[in-house]
Amino acid sequence: MYILGMESSCDETSAAIVRAEGDKLEIVANIVASQIETHRLYGGVVPEIASRAHIEAITGITAEALEAAGITLKELDAVAVTAFPGLIGALLVGVNFAKSLAYANGLPLVAVNHIKAHVAASYLTETPPRPPFLALVVSGGHTSLFDVTDHTEFHEIGATRDDAAGEAFDKIGRVIGLPYPGGAALDRLAGEGNQKAIALPSPALGNDTLDFSFSGLKTAALNYINHCHQQEKEVPRADLAASFTEAVVSGIAKKVEAALLQTGRSTLVMAGGVAANSHLRARLAALCQKRGVQFIVPPLSLCGDNGAMVAAAGYFEYLRGNFADVSLNASASDYPEG
Ligand code: KG4
Ligand code: ZN
Repeated sequence: MYILGMESSCDETSAAIVRAEGDKLEIVANIVASQIETHRLYGGVVPEIASRAHIEAITGITAEALEAAGITLKELDAVAVTAFPGLIGALLVGVNFAKSLAYANGLPLVAVNHIKAHVAASYLTETPPRPPFLALVVSGGHTSLFDVTDHTEFHEIGATRDDAAGEAFDKIGRVIGLPYPGGAALDRLAGEGNQKAIALPSPALGNDTLDFSFSGLKTAALNYINHCHQQEKEVPRADLAASFTEAVVSGIAKKVEAALLQTGRSTLVMAGGVAANSHLRARLAALCQKRGVQFIVPPLSLCGDNGAMVAAAGYFEYLRGNFADVSLNASASDYPEG
């Protein structure tokens, strides 16, 4: 069957066609229209501008995805759309478009959780994970650990209590003058610095929890930068990037190792925009090798927001008969049903 996946939760408008049969999923087309250049002017995503840009892009990229796939609307079997969590105005564009398209063409509609969709990107790799597995979602808005017991059943066992890892990368990136979003640029800069140069606190909370807190780390890094400014010293940007990255990476690795021990899972999936981080990928790959755990991380093109991961998540909701209808609404929150 063919599923159209639609994504508009933040600053990427995307439409993708995924062909699915049994547990085999294949991307036929995945069109992503990024608004990053627009938001870069403001140093971060401006929600109102994001909504308008989604409206402008969504019809064109859907047509483009169908054309790239070489199929017509009539050949589609379902429409899947990110309904939560995210920027409410941005989400509403995708949800209303998908509802109209499904209704007008008599297609089943599936509502998708954006966080589950990030994990579902792994179902599109050469080695799709079979549940149960442990999933680490690291993105601009989330840093969470899930025990995944079925393609659609996620149990959160750890999460950040304040900022997300991506948010922290972006904040430090902005303060040291890197273009928005700072994550990717900071990743490259970290490779040139000394990770032991600056002592920074770990984002991993105490041993009785799998939770994180990035606000203390972020504040410590900002204090360090302010201190340099006060002393009229140049900020050693590469050393700061390396030390900050090391704190993030080792804090995450610590909780991932504890979560593997606690759950006894033998597969780890990492997903989300920050899963593109080269240092985090290398550290978790080494950890998994040491523990004899299978490590699955989507290719860089599927780590950021895209419609293919939405179609993949939607397919498994479809198989379970979890359909939405024209009453579907978007929600900014992680748990709209609760
Ligand atoms: O998943 P995503 O595309 O959007 C959300 O759902 O939030 O994640 C975007 C985040 C941004 O914070 C961006 O800076 C970060 O992913 N990111 C990275 C890297 N590439 C993107 N963070 C660290 N290292 C990278 N290489
Ligand atoms: Zn995302």
